[in-house]
Amino acid sequence: MSLPRDQQAHSTVVVIGAGIIGLTCALQLQSELSRRKTTRPISVLLVAREWPSSIPGAPARHSTDYASMWAGAHVRPIPATTPQLRCEAAWLRRAVAEFARQVDVEPWCGVTRTPGVEYLEAPDQGYRQQTKDSFERETGLGGYRKLGAAEVPEGVVLAYEYDTFCINSPAYCEHLLRKFLLQGGKTLQRDLKSEWEAFTLREDVILVVNASGAGFGDPKSFPTRGQTVVSNLSHVTKTVTRQNKDGSWSFLIPRFLNGGTIVGGTKEPGDWRTEPDVPTRERLLSAGLTLEPYAHDGPARDAAETARNCKVIADVVGRRPTREGGVRLEVEERPLVRLDQEPAKGRVIHAYGAGGRGYEISWGVASEVVDLAMPLLAPEAQIKGKL
Ligand SMILES: Cc1cc2nc3c(=O)[nH]c(=O)nc-3n(C[C@H](O)[C@H](O)[C@H](O)COP(=O)(O)OP(=O)(O)OC[C@H]3O[C@@H](n4cnc5c(N)ncnc54)[C@H](O)[C@@H]3O)c2cc1C
Ligand SMILES: *[C@@H]1O[C@H](CO)[C@@H](O)[C@H](O)[C@H]1NC(C)=O
Ligand SMILES: *[C@@H]1O[C@H](CO)[C@@H](O)[C@H](O)[C@H]1NC(C)=O
Repeated sequence: MSLPRDQQAHSTVVVIGAGIIGLTCALQLQSELSRRKTTRPISVLLVAREWPSSIPGAPARHSTDYASMWAGAHVRPIPATTPQLRCEAAWLRRAVAEFARQVDVEPWCGVTRTPGVEYLEAPDQGYRQQTKDSFERETGLGGYRKLGAAEVPEGVVLAYEYDTFCINSPAYCEHLLRKFLLQGGKTLQRDLKSEWEAFTLREDVILVVNASGAGFGDPKSFPTRGQTVVSNLSHVTKTVTRQNKDGSWSFLIPRFLNGGTIVGGTKEPGDWRTEPDVPTRERLLSAGLTLEPYAHDGPARDAAETARNCKVIADVVGRRPTREGGVRLEVEERPLVRLDQEPAKGRVIHAYGAGGRGYEISWGVASEVVDLAMPLLAPEAQIKGKL
């Protein structure tokens, strides 16, 4: 005879972090667990210091460390020329498939189909060798077309467009959180001192996922500062990125659902400054707004007119949780130190260090976390396989 549901032995998987990585991992774990038959219910508990809901310009403020609130964000593939980039390309493909599904079935979620344009002043080998075929195979995105010389601004030597996705980051994160809660997910606000502390949050924690972004003192982790401007431009219909010879970047990311347009942005590894600075804002706007006439079919005729039509809603600084070698994705097992109890092992799956690509690789990382998690849950929860 089985006990009523609320008296049954229960198990908990803790996910640390309510950024894009923690949210997608929590949802993916939740849906995989619900598809399987377990001898005891396993619930997913999301634990984080900071939570979604941020509107640039409104008073609620998040720390610069909560990268997911400050991302543009667009899907912008990078040619897969190294082992790390090949791995990220596979994750990106997985995320692209999920975004395509969401745009169709949950069109309010904060993801929008958008044309993407790339301008390169000094393309490396990877970009120069890229073809329509290799691009579409690597990314799962369609619509690739090289732009002709007459279509591109001065100084650009390689340019192409493709069909991609833009994400209203805070809105999308809120959407994922609402979905998690609706499906029975549990949450807890907490500033953890170590991932091992997570094992003490409930009696029955069997696994912890560390999606803490920058993590807890990994010497390979470092912040990459990003300053951007949230503007009220409303006629931008494409996301445009320009990589300049001097290593600087200029991009426009339309943020749908009344989010204005992001004019960016800096990439400053190891820079810990949390405040936006005015010279950077001026530089971003003057470079970004010259991209704009190419990016839309709206009423502005030139950059000067665009500048007159543009109001700064907020200056934004975020820290991309970067890690040498990319995302750490592995299981760590350690004895848990609990003085008055039987010795026990704790298992953590690490999933932090997504750097500047957290959104575009999210669902790929989450699938790998689930692949790592399921065999670990099997002995404890006696998963009997799919129903
Ligand atoms: C300006 C800018 C532009 C960007 N543009 C893009 C883009 O176009 N496309 C893209 O894919 N990515 C982009 N990114 C990168 C993207 O924002 C990050 O890769 C992503 O947000 C990382 O997500 P995360 O979940 O790993 O970490 P975070 O979003 O930092 O979340 C970490 C979570 O862990 C919690 N946490 C951390 N430590 C603790 C602790 N000790 N106890 C409890 N909780 C804790 C935090 O409170 C938070 O909930 C951009 C970033 C910036 C700054
Ligand atoms: C999470 O990852 C960080 C990497 O910075 C690591 O040092 C730490 O041990 C992990 N923390 C938790 C809570 O798992
Ligand atoms: C943005 O602000 C500028 C300057 O205040 C204004 O002229 C313009 O109409 C605004 N645009 C929109 C779409 O509201």
